[in-house]
Amino acid sequence: MLRRVLIVGGDGKIATAVAHHLAAEGAEVIATTRRRERVSPTRPFLELPDLGPLRDLDPGDACLLSASVASPEAVRHDPEGVRRVNVEAITAAAEICRARRAHVLFLSTNQVFDGTVPRPPADRPTCPVSEYGRQKAEVEDRLRAMGQGVAILRLARALERGLPLFVEWKRRLLAGEPIEAFTERTIAPISYEFLAKVIGAILAVRGEGVWQVSGNQDLSYFEIAGMLAARLGADPALVRPTTAAEKGLLEPSPAHTTLDMGRLTTCLGFQAPFSRAVVEDVLEEL
Ligand SMILES: NC(=O)c1ccc[n+]([C@@H]2O[C@H](COP(=O)([O-])OP(=O)(O)OC[C@H]3O[C@@H](n4cnc5c(N)ncnc54)[C@H](OP(=O)(O)O)[C@@H]3O)[C@@H](O)[C@H]2O)c1
Repeated sequence: MLRRVLIVGGDGKIATAVAHHLAAEGAEVIATTRRRERVSPTRPFLELPDLGPLRDLDPGDACLLSASVASPEAVRHDPEGVRRVNVEAITAAAEICRARRAHVLFLSTNQVFDGTVPRPPADRPTCPVSEYGRQKAEVEDRLRAMGQGVAILRLARALERGLPLFVEWKRRLLAGEPIEAFTERTIAPISYEFLAKVIGAILAVRGEGVWQVSGNQDLSYFEIAGMLAARLGADPALVRPTTAAEKGLLEPSPAHTTLDMGRLTTCLGFQAPFSRAVVEDVLEEL
C-alpha cells in the first residue's frame, strides 16, 4: 500500500481527483499549491520553476508530476516561459524526487502523437504537431533517459462535470437557439474518477515506462452536441456543423485522440472506457 504520495500541482483537476482517491485508499497525500491562502502542512507552497521548496519536502513513496501550463494561448504567446515550467522544472522535479527514492509518475498527453492513426501503441515514436505536445514529448525523452523509477502516463481528454461549453449548449438548446459544434475536433474522453484509479494502480505497483489511457473511440464535438440535443428532446437541426479552422483557431485538430491501452489492460486489468458512456454521464448531470 502507498504510505505517502507527493503531488506536484495539487490544485489541478486531475490532481484533486487523485488526491481524493489516494486518501480514500489510506495514503497520506501532500499536494503542492501556488495559492498562498491554501498553504498548510499538507499543502506546501511550490511555484515552478522555483524548485527550492521541493528540496525540503519528503516525497514518500511516490511523486505525481501533474503541474503544467496547458492553455494554448500561454503556450503560443510565451513558449520559452512555459517551457521553463513544463519541461525544465518538471524534469528537475523528477530528478529531485528520484534522488529521494520516490517513484515518479509524469502525466503526458495523446498530443505527443500527430493524431493521424487511431490507438497508436505506446512504443510508436512520438510525432507532436503542437508546441504543448512537443514539450511533453521532450519531457518524456528526458525521463526515459533517467532509467528506472520513472513512469509516463499518456492520457486523452479527461471530461469534467459541468463543462461550461456543455452548460452553454444546454441553455441555448432549451431556449430553441442554434449552437455550432466542431466536426473535425474530437475527444476520446475518460472520467476523472477512472483516471484517478488508473494513476493509483500504476503508483501502487511502481509501474515504470510508458502507459496510455483513453476512451474507446473518438467523438467529434458535433456528435456530442447531437447527443445533448437528443437527450433534451431539442430539434437536431439546432446543432450546426462548423470547424475550428472556420472559427480561426490555430491549434491543430487531430483526427484521432485514442491511445492503445493494451498494457493497462494486460498488466492492471483496465479496459478502455466507452467514450459515449463517459459523455452521457457528464451530459446527464448538466
Ligand atoms: N485534463 C486533461 O484532459 C489532460 C489531458 C492530457 C494531459 N493532461 C496533463 O495532466 C496534467 C494535469 O492536468 P489537469 O487537467 O489537472 O490540469 P489543470 O487543472 O490545469 O492543473 C494544472 C495545475 O498546474 C498548476 N500549475 C500551473 N503552472 C504552475 C507553476 N508555474 N507552478 C506550480 N504549479 C503550476 C496549476 O496551478 P493553479 O491551479 O494555481 O493555476 C494547476 O493546479 C497536466 O500535466 C496536463 O498536461 C491533462
